[in-house]
Amino acid sequence: MASSSLALRLAITLDPCLLAEAAGYSLDPWQQRIMRSRSPRLGLLASRQSGKSLVTACLAVHTALTESGALILLLSPSLRQSQELFRRCLDIYRAVDRPVGAEAENALSLVLDSGSRILSLPGTERTIRGFSSVRLLVIDEAARCETERSAAMAISSTARNMRTHG
Ligand SMILES: Nc1ncnc2c1ncn2[C@@H]1O[C@H](COP(=O)(O)OP(=O)(O)OP(=O)(O)O)[C@@H](O)[C@H]1O
Ligand SMILES: [Mg+2]
Repeated sequence: MASSSLALRLAITLDPCLLAEAAGYSLDPWQQRIMRSRSPRLGLLASRQSGKSLVTACLAVHTALTESGALILLLSPSLRQSQELFRRCLDIYRAVDRPVGAEAENALSLVLDSGSRILSLPGTERTIRGFSSVRLLVIDEAARCETERSAAMAISSTARNMRTHG
């Protein structure tokens, strides 16, 4: 692994906000609090276009880059919306020059050499059934996710770290 990749991984392990900075974003104070939070659950209630999706994409990429074998699920009311959020994740991953290599990188998923995965799914209970040991669950536009409650409950039995927003 290149020393710059290692340096970035060390830096973002110490301060998660550095991931956003390395990707070219200067996070607002509330976004910084989200990135540095150790809470197992987060709910974001914020105005339109305030940066909710961006900061949750940063969280997803941060988890994937700093842990091994982490399963990260992105849920939205529709697959198209999940893909939008996933696209943000890919943009961030690429902007920081892929500090962990990818086994697979496509429109719906990113699988890293470390075994960590980011998968985008439509927010219905049926699509998330069967996943176990979810490390991070992001529910975008949660207020519009009809199955948000059942999805969260289905996942929470196995998730060590569950975060929702929207
Ligand atoms: N800290 C930041 N610095 C620079 N640009 C930012 C920052 N946070 C968000 N943005 C940009 O602002 C725009 C809106 O961000 P984002 O889509 O994350 O907001 P949102 O709250 O999810 O919006 P919506 O309510 O429409 O879902 C995007 O272009 C995003 O890149
Ligand atoms: Mg959004």
